[in-house]
Amino acid sequence: MPNNVIVLGTQWGDEGKGKIADLLTSKANIVVRSQGGNNAGHTLVVGNKKVVVRLVPSGILHKDCLCLIGSGVVVNPGALFEEIEELNKAGVENVESRIKISGASSLLLPVHPAIDKGSEKLRGKGAIGTTGRGIGPCYEDKVARRGVRVGDLYDMENFKEKLKALLEYRNFQLKNYYHEPEVSFESVLEYIEGVRDRLLAMVDDVSLILDNGRRANKKILFEGAQGTFLDIDYGTYPYVTSSNTVAGGCVTGSGAGPLHIDYVLGIAKVYTTRVGGGPYPTELNDEVGEGIRKRGAEFGAVTGRPRRTGWYDAVAMRRAVTINSLTGLALMKMDVLDGMDEIKICTAYKLKDGSISQLPPLSAHEYEGITPVYESMPGWKESTFGITKWDDLPENAKHYIKRLEELSGAKVAILSTGPERDQTIYLDNPFD
Ligand code: GDP
Ligand code: IMO
Ligand code: MG
Repeated sequence: MPNNVIVLGTQWGDEGKGKIADLLTSKANIVVRSQGGNNAGHTLVVGNKKVVVRLVPSGILHKDCLCLIGSGVVVNPGALFEEIEELNKAGVENVESRIKISGASSLLLPVHPAIDKGSEKLRGKGAIGTTGRGIGPCYEDKVARRGVRVGDLYDMENFKEKLKALLEYRNFQLKNYYHEPEVSFESVLEYIEGVRDRLLAMVDDVSLILDNGRRANKKILFEGAQGTFLDIDYGTYPYVTSSNTVAGGCVTGSGAGPLHIDYVLGIAKVYTTRVGGGPYPTELNDEVGEGIRKRGAEFGAVTGRPRRTGWYDAVAMRRAVTINSLTGLALMKMDVLDGMDEIKICTAYKLKDGSISQLPPLSAHEYEGITPVYESMPGWKESTFGITKWDDLPENAKHYIKRLEELSGAKVAILSTGPERDQTIYLDNPFD
């Protein structure tokens, strides 16, 4: 019986990871986030209540669930506390005492969004279209070994030295390169002093908690953020986020051992969306795409930006299946395709030179001149909204799902027919 399950996005984010992580948490004891930061926006819908979590793991609505933030996450303390207040106001119990943060996680400081904005402005037309939350610059500092970590707050004299050096570097850049206002040492220090005690009270050894949980046969859910094609290595570089969003990132970013993972559940919409810039072969810039955006309410959970929409991309999925060693798939937002005459699936890419590729390239520039090769399937007129049994689905909807399964090579474990918990068809629950 699987105890350690990864849930991750197989497209460009916003696949519905939040709904599935929340659902599966009814059976999990621990949920851990391993990468990303408050660029994530995971929507949880219970009854007529909607909660969007950004840094807090999606297990938080289940009152006995322990929520961990691993070393691979970039933590913006102000944003975290705001989120905790929102959850408290929504009536969620014992929020703060159930969140444990790794001392090795990176501190996202007020200077990081400033750098993010400056960098995007300078890129002009080539902007990545980031969430503007400072995620990339915070990871840059981490990798450059000038970053500050949550655990650094135990020794403030040492922290101040590190902060001084970091700000000296970043302010030089802000002033001379981006021509933006600098961020003063005093203001950052004051901010940090205001959050320090509260943050340190949440610090724990995340890797050890996971190992103890595993030994005690606890059910652990690793919640991915963003999606496979936003991965820093395997995404459409440079139009990506700055962390490893693939299954491997769940291991390095949490401190769990790779052989302790029992099941990897990939989340995908039955179509695709993307927020921000970058290649997107199956994008629909027409009324069909507009219809999907409207019916699917495809607007960013973090920035409110309209999401780009397009047909399902089986070429990208082929890569997602192998990179993540997907055990199963959760296919989401089935209901959004209700009422369409025709549904297309991209089964191959036609490259600039006319050759056909079954796999996506590794860099954005290689997507130039690519056109999708489509297979067409008839749609269905009936509503699938809220259906809970496979047998109740329209025949054409079943054929469509079967075809997606066949093309991906991974079995469909869950089908989602609406935003709420019970609007779900289970073909195979990963924790059973
Ligand atoms: P995440 O970032 O992967 O957690 O996904 P988001 O929360 O950003 O976006 C997914 C959106 O789709 C949310 O608004 C969900 O409430 C909604 N959603 C999830 N599953 C379904 C579904 O099956 N049908 C419909 N109509 N909406 C869904
Ligand atoms: P969840 O977890 C969708 C996108 C941004 C931009 C790129 C880089 O809700 O699926 P960043 O701010 O990370 O440097 O932006 O990544 N992006 C997301 N798109 N869902 C997300 O998170 C995203 N997080 C980042 O739009 O294109
Ligand atoms: Mg989202």
